[in-house]
Amino acid sequence: EKEGYDHFMIKEINEQATSVKNTLTQKDNIQKIIDDLDDISRICFVACGTSYHASLTGKYLLESLAGIPTDVILASEFKYSAKTLDENTLVIFISQSGETADSLKALDVANETSKTLGIVNVAGSSITRRAQYVIQTQAGPEIGVAATKTYVSQLTAVYLFAALMAKDDRLLNDLDKVPDFINEVLEDVESIKAMSQRYNYAKDFFYLGRGYSYPTALEGALKLKEISYIHGEGYAAGELKHGPLALIDEGIPVVVVIPPGDSHKKTMSNLEEVKSRGARVLAFGAADDEELAEKAPEVFKINPEVSEIIAPLVYIVPLQLLSYYITIEKGFDPDKPRNLAKCVTVE
Ligand code: F6R
Repeated sequence: EKEGYDHFMIKEINEQATSVKNTLTQKDNIQKIIDDLDDISRICFVACGTSYHASLTGKYLLESLAGIPTDVILASEFKYSAKTLDENTLVIFISQSGETADSLKALDVANETSKTLGIVNVAGSSITRRAQYVIQTQAGPEIGVAATKTYVSQLTAVYLFAALMAKDDRLLNDLDKVPDFINEVLEDVESIKAMSQRYNYAKDFFYLGRGYSYPTALEGALKLKEISYIHGEGYAAGELKHGPLALIDEGIPVVVVIPPGDSHKKTMSNLEEVKSRGARVLAFGAADDEELAEKAPEVFKINPEVSEIIAPLVYIVPLQLLSYYITIEKGFDPDKPRNLAKCVTVE
């Protein structure tokens, strides 16, 4: 079933252009849901883990494009917010499995007051049966414990939802180009393999991103932790000087997610801050970014047409690859990380 790949994880990473393409077919379906939902004044995402990171990206999109106040709540912390829900709140549950216990419990509570929408990969799962509306992500079965292709599919559904809510035709257009951008990254796998050999010594990694790239930093760090057992910490680039800068010293690898766009300039100054303290910067940015080439010793180059708004769909791919190859270097099995299950059915 691995079709010639060494592990399910790398097979699934390589399927991501297809996962995005297949999930884009849900556009008409999503438009119908939006037409049916009226009087939505607030959106609340509820999720865990990787699905939480897709939700966080949703908040940035919905607030900045559609101006809809949006919260993102960890399913295990949901009960403290339950009283703030009302009939004009749409509660969106993102879940690969559709069976995560904390999310299911929150769904039952939200159904009592609010409209509920599940963005779920596994057809027929509990969340698809209990949510009032459902968007099915089209990633196909995911076997690797670390979520990869289901993450980009969740993001695709969230982008469609936000772009349709905001009637942003330009963004809808740009989404069609994402599968090709992902394939371009996958063709450059040798650069990531080489990078993984240079950094597998590390005990700690930092991941920095600002704005749309902040959830990407969190997800990149989660991928590293769960399969390579290296401590990875994702941080909003601007938060760095409020504490973690104390941990940055000689030789610590810092992944900087720095696509072209509004946040570029400020992220660049954070990059310089960590570099001046001796960090080893691994930058992920645009191929034509001359300033970045000059300032970062190590740059993974991505198509400059990938602007910061669609970057989450593309920039996560090299970070998944980096975690995968570091794990291989260390001799661990990325498909079966210790202590983790594909689906968490206890609270
Ligand atoms: C990370 C991972 C977990 C899940 C989390 C939620 O790679 O797989 O963090 O994302 O357990 O699971 P679902 O999406 O099935 O609700």
